[in-house]
Amino acid sequence: MTHPIDLIADLGVVPVIAIERAADAVALADALLEGGLPVAEITFRTEAAADVLAAMRDARPELCIGAGTVLDKASLKKAIAAGARFGLAPGFDPDIVEAAREADLPFCPGIMTPSDLTLAAARGVRLAKFFPAGVAGGPKALSGISAPFAHLGIRFIPTGGVTEGTIGEWLALAQVIAVGGTWIARTEDIREGRFKDISKNAAAAVKVARQ
Ligand code: 3PG
Repeated sequence: MTHPIDLIADLGVVPVIAIERAADAVALADALLEGGLPVAEITFRTEAAADVLAAMRDARPELCIGAGTVLDKASLKKAIAAGARFGLAPGFDPDIVEAAREADLPFCPGIMTPSDLTLAAARGVRLAKFFPAGVAGGPKALSGISAPFAHLGIRFIPTGGVTEGTIGEWLALAQVIAVGGTWIARTEDIREGRFKDISKNAAAAVKVARQ
């Protein structure tokens, strides 16, 4: 099986998803797979997150599923039990990073400043989420913030304010392996059953990311 981070780097884009009902999990998985995007970050912003992960794991093992918005160790534990193969968080909590490492789960904590990055790097973090990437200043800001850490080979997944139109600028940075965002599979589109639109968004994002 491909390592989840290699798959994410290969695709160049990760859909960040807040899904409300586990009953929609398989239809959503199919929409992403149909769009050529076999990866999903299921955020722990909804009660359904763990059930969605488990439903996707059981019904569509070809989809590489991960947990997002992992804000505490209890969520991390639930995510792993439900089949998450990677995790992300908007911020850096050394205890969560350590717990993920102990569980052998590839984990990507969030950073926004050189101080965040200093602390994360000291704990061995070599893949970080740059969040919120847009309001933090875009690709120029990430270039500036990450420059003093270049010798450590830290790589980034910018999310927050990324759009289909800005994927290219982000991926032009050597230290960016992929971008993430909610525009591909919006909560309301899932709720209203607009899975065809989700497939289209996924296909369009993958196409731009590959260019
Ligand atoms: C995330 O957690 O990655 C963000 O909420 C995504 O932000 P977006 O809605 O601007 O894509």
